[in-house]
Amino acid sequence: MVTGPPWPFDDPISLYEESPAREWGWLRGIWRGRGQVSASRWRLYFVVIVDGEPVGMQDLIGVDFAAFGTVTTFSWLSPETRGRGLGKEIREAVLHLAFAGLGAREASSDAFFDNHASNRVSEALGYQPNGVSWDNRRGEPAEIRQWRLTREHWIKRKRDDIELVAVADCLPVLGIDPPPEG
Ligand SMILES: CC(C)(COP(=O)(O)OP(=O)(O)OC[C@H]1O[C@@H](n2cnc3c(N)ncnc32)[C@H](O)[C@@H]1OP(=O)(O)O)[C@@H](O)C(=O)NCCC(=O)NCCS
Repeated sequence: MVTGPPWPFDDPISLYEESPAREWGWLRGIWRGRGQVSASRWRLYFVVIVDGEPVGMQDLIGVDFAAFGTVTTFSWLSPETRGRGLGKEIREAVLHLAFAGLGAREASSDAFFDNHASNRVSEALGYQPNGVSWDNRRGEPAEIRQWRLTREHWIKRKRDDIELVAVADCLPVLGIDPPPEG
């Protein structure tokens, strides 16, 4: 049971209830998201597995992707696996899927101003600052830092050791036209 920091999640949508209500709420959210995949809105929930153990999630979200080509990301890792470079690794993996696999034009991310790990992942991967907004954090207003990574910036530091598997099969359900032949 988590009763204080480090919180398992730190995001406006996070649930700070005690276990097991928190886990039930999260599971309902994931099942709801999977049940509502459509061309106008999808959220892909990837599990992070290290040495056969699930240790976190890396989500990729697209809203009206066919029109805008934009995605957002969300992730969390179990506290004992943080701070070892895994956060950057999983963000790079899902960015590769978004840009190379789905043809995204731009990715965005945001985090509370003092979520140094999340903000640093964005900065280290070449995202540019994209303003601030406010959100509710356990009943208190808190500033959110926003980041964006254009395709142009992603290409400059794109990795060549990430393998995408069976992406073409998934495109129709996400409302994405397959890339032209050749
Ligand atoms: C955000 C999260 C996924 C990042 O993953 P991580 O594995 O901890 O991050 P990494 O080890 O890849 O570190 C990425 C960068 O942040 C820095 N960093 C990591 N933890 C940090 C901390 N507590 N304070 C300052 N910088 C930190 C690292 O030094 C690294 O920077 P570098 O490239 O300059 O070396 C993870 O910390 C997490 O699950 N946090 C709780 C959930 C959460 O807040 N999710 C985001 C919601 S918006």
